[in-house]
Amino acid sequence: MTLTSFNPIPHYTVSSGELPRIALLATGGTIAGSAADATRTAGYQAGALGVQDLLAAVPALGNVAHIHAEQVAQIDSKDISVSLWQKLAARVNALLAQPDVAGAVITHGTDTLEETAYYLHLTINSRKPVVLTAAMRPATALSADGPLNLLNAVRVATDPISAGRGVMVAINNQIHCARDVIKTSTYKVDAFHSPEIGVIGWVQDERVAFQREPLQYHTVESEFVGLSGELPAVEVVSSYAGVSRIAVDALVEAGVQGIVVAGTGNGSLHSLLQQALAEAVQRGVTVVRASRVGSGHVMHNGAAPDDQYGFVSAGNLHPYKARVLLMLALQAGVPRERMQSLFDEY
Ligand code: SIN
Repeated sequence: MTLTSFNPIPHYTVSSGELPRIALLATGGTIAGSAADATRTAGYQAGALGVQDLLAAVPALGNVAHIHAEQVAQIDSKDISVSLWQKLAARVNALLAQPDVAGAVITHGTDTLEETAYYLHLTINSRKPVVLTAAMRPATALSADGPLNLLNAVRVATDPISAGRGVMVAINNQIHCARDVIKTSTYKVDAFHSPEIGVIGWVQDERVAFQREPLQYHTVESEFVGLSGELPAVEVVSSYAGVSRIAVDALVEAGVQGIVVAGTGNGSLHSLLQQALAEAVQRGVTVVRASRVGSGHVMHNGAAPDDQYGFVSAGNLHPYKARVLLMLALQAGVPRERMQSLFDEY
């Protein structure tokens, strides 16, 4: 492993003959977590280890790819910022533009992985594979899941059949589309699912297989590639028993440009909240109606009269992913009248 220095971000290379060249960007998370002892799978420091430690734990990588590794961040992903999304997208785009780079792998914390993955799915300007991976157990744990997840993610990124499928998440031997995957367990190794749609493929040993194709716009077809500047403020609120309008009114007062509401069931809204959101629309805020259920879709005019109040329905986008799409749409200046078809297409 050699340390080179043409870039301000510290990076390392693992060289092995004529193998495909993969960019590995590390951001921290439990995959780089360190605990006081090997029996501890909670109560550890996420992002404690550097990318060179992740590589050192998987010597077999040397037979799979020539890895160019960079430490882009070293955080617990609960603290991820939209500026880090932008930095990551810019770096991945720059690396994938190099003809000799076959794909990119990003190590990330599991807690917000689905948001970062979807942001990249909409902003990466390449058909080359981009694969996020993570771990539920820290690197120091008995049966740590990170090393195999990293090896599998690199295998997916190096396989030519992975091209053109947008940003993927390879974890627990499964391959998910960034648009659909969500974290569904706080502690199990089998923590990621793509409700409704299912995984798009799987990886085991040398075999990478795909069985579904993401059909909604992403990467090279996305109109959000190449945007610059700040992402507009978009917040998420929820509907529940006895909800008040305090949060919505405060957000409108604070000047947010968008609100995603995680409604009950098919995106139904408590009447008080619905009224507050209808007034928010009148004041120029874009309101997207999603569901807190976690699977299924929110039908336009299904559980709320969207056309009457000017709401957009999120379809089967999870509320936090709907927020990502809405931020980008507002940043791109998508007009209100196109917003619903945009949510249908992405
Ligand atoms: C994090 O998201 O950074 C911590 C939790 C995890 O990676 O599982």
